[in-house]
Amino acid sequence: TIEIQNLKEQIIKLKKEKNAVLLAHYYQQTEIQEIADYVGDSLGLSQEAAKVDADIILFAGVHFMAETAKILNPSKKVILPDLNAGCSLAESCPPDLFKNFIDQHPDHLVITYVNCSAEVKALTDIVVTSANVVKIVESVPKDKPIIFAPDKNLGKYVMSKTGRNMVLWNGSCVVHEAFSLDKLLELYKEHPDAKIIAHPESETHILATASYIGSTSGMIDYVKNDSCLKFIVATEFGILHKMQEEVPEKVLIPAPAKEDNTCACSECGYMKMNTLQKVYNCLVNESPEITLPEDIIQKALIPIERMLELSK
Ligand code: 13P
Ligand code: SF4
Repeated sequence: TIEIQNLKEQIIKLKKEKNAVLLAHYYQQTEIQEIADYVGDSLGLSQEAAKVDADIILFAGVHFMAETAKILNPSKKVILPDLNAGCSLAESCPPDLFKNFIDQHPDHLVITYVNCSAEVKALTDIVVTSANVVKIVESVPKDKPIIFAPDKNLGKYVMSKTGRNMVLWNGSCVVHEAFSLDKLLELYKEHPDAKIIAHPESETHILATASYIGSTSGMIDYVKNDSCLKFIVATEFGILHKMQEEVPEKVLIPAPAKEDNTCACSECGYMKMNTLQKVYNCLVNESPEITLPEDIIQKALIPIERMLELSK
């Protein structure tokens, strides 16, 4: 509509005037992705945030992602269209309880998935994303015990992939636990020529059906490079926009969700809190802004930098 087009033009103009950069995750609404300077997975977004030279980082994603950008750029203004755009994984791991958990497991290396709060990162030895977790866990000496938080599904996947035992925190992603195995198998029966691909936040029984398991960027690359022409995609629905753009000739089918889910596929309500109107307002007002205590920034930066170093 004219309204959407107008908002998009205003945002592009304001970005230039204010020397702002718009970073967006693949799960963001299509119209936000269309005007972003960079669209990527959590690792790509952190790498991009680490090299930004704009004055303002407008982060179209969820709170922990904007916090990571702030930790990497403490002197820059980092703004998020809706501060309530959280994450069920980050919420499952309150810093005080996590601190107790660490204290109960002395001598363990603390590895946390980037989907956690800055306070939890400040208690961490190495941060990981779904794109680098296997490589990073494999780089840890075999005799070193590991605590992995907050995603138990990702943790179980990494244990099966690396053959390592890890002490897992009991968190999960509501969006990736919404997939129905029965419906997925039914769908696969209708499309036996399709390949199933899944994000590792999904449950073990969903992952067991997948030909490929990886981060959102990894899934897009796989679909691009594989010769198969049809894919059933088990991750948040928003990814289909960029994926389809990359492979216009291929058929992409979102994996079905359980009966009680709010939609037939699976959407992240947190990611969808950001709207084009909120992106515009946020840029006009330069608010809501992400602010963090100085000591948290300093402590959380160390495990994030370790991750960036180990991902090279
Ligand atoms: P990616 O890093 O694979 O994009 O995952 C982010 C996320 O929140 C998945 O739910
Ligand atoms: Fe968090 Fe899951 Fe949403 Fe990703 S999809 S932001 S892990 S709630």
